[in-house]
Amino acid sequence: MISTHFKHIRNAADMAPLKDNSVDLVVTSPPYPMIEMWDDCFIRQDSGVFGALTRGGGWTAFERMHALLDSVWDEVCRVMKPGRFACINIGDAVRKTGDDFGLFPNHSRIISAMVKRGLTPLPAILWRKQTNAPNKFMGSGMLPAGAYVTLEHEYILIFRKGSKRDFETGGERQARRESAIFWEERNQWYSDIWYDLKGTRQALSTSRVRNRSGAFPFELPYRLISMYSVAGDTVLDPFSGIGTTALAAMTAGRSSISFEIEADFAGLIPDEAGAMDGVIGFSNRVIQSRIDRHASFAEERIQSGKPMKYINRHYGFPVVTRQETDLFIRPLADARPVAGNGLEITYAGQALKEIEGACLAHGQKDSMPDKGGPAGLRSYAQGGWRNLKLFE
Ligand SMILES: C[S@@+](CC[C@H](N)C(=O)[O-])C[C@H]1O[C@@H](n2cnc3c(N)ncnc32)[C@H](O)[C@@H]1O
Repeated sequence: MISTHFKHIRNAADMAPLKDNSVDLVVTSPPYPMIEMWDDCFIRQDSGVFGALTRGGGWTAFERMHALLDSVWDEVCRVMKPGRFACINIGDAVRKTGDDFGLFPNHSRIISAMVKRGLTPLPAILWRKQTNAPNKFMGSGMLPAGAYVTLEHEYILIFRKGSKRDFETGGERQARRESAIFWEERNQWYSDIWYDLKGTRQALSTSRVRNRSGAFPFELPYRLISMYSVAGDTVLDPFSGIGTTALAAMTAGRSSISFEIEADFAGLIPDEAGAMDGVIGFSNRVIQSRIDRHASFAEERIQSGKPMKYINRHYGFPVVTRQETDLFIRPLADARPVAGNGLEITYAGQALKEIEGACLAHGQKDSMPDKGGPAGLRSYAQGGWRNLKLFE
């Protein structure tokens, strides 16, 4: 399997390089209207925003900024295939304009924009973006009634174009089965509040360019891509910044197309991923850590006598449901530049040596009866899945 990745430095209000109905998933985070950090970005695209802000016309500025985003949403809706999803990360803004302080609800303005364009809204995810900033409590302090609660969450708005996606061919159904998510990941990821993203900035957190870019944590697009698309799909990020979505797509075995208006962010993926030994090293560490987390989960579950009814056919470890028996996170094997400033990633097409060994230890079984106790678990309790080292 291969994936390809391209970035266009141009305004996503015109995504002419993309055909109608051509992308499988959108994962993005636009500049946030009425958050000061993004004022210049909007003013460069519409000088009227500056006038509105300086005259204290908060709602006029808010609408003008959203009008700029609306032209990108027009394009997003055009290029999405029917049955596919768009996930939009956005925070609301609080700001004093003129004499008044108030909330500018970006999330509800974007929901209205997408509904007007015919997309169906789905339950959103709130992610907790805790801050220790001393000014996070706003207003009159300990004195009622002029104090306001903190703003320590962002939204991931989720929309579908048209009705549900069909997986028609045998190949599509196989890609879907391989793209399954572990049961314990499902319980965490498909939950409407994510408390745990703060700790997942990983090694991609420190750079100055990352701070200036408003990049989201790697785990955010990686989860969304794993949840709302299948291996081999194409993911679009129209507001790509330093390319966190593209890196997540590479790691997840999806192709990507990115648009970014600022030439400063021309790099396809975050520099740090390159510096850390390249996309292959970075992505394979992410994959290994998912495998390790599952092995620990399985170990604990076995110890506590809870059922693990099935064996995954690629890794040989126990899994909770039949849907996880084909789950396979393809390791990255090679990356090479291609014409058009792109990157092509090749994935290992079959299980690596140690995985094969673990499967053989189980006679390639994909399921086993659950006896609900240590006796029934004995055959895979001896297996080699506990310390699968997928990569040297
Ligand atoms: C919130 S940042 C996205 C950060 C990104 N998720 C990451 O992890 O790096 C929004 C980006 O959208 C870009 N942008 C703003 N308006 C744009 C437009 N009309 N077309 C393309 N890019 C745009 C900005 O330059 C900025 O890099």
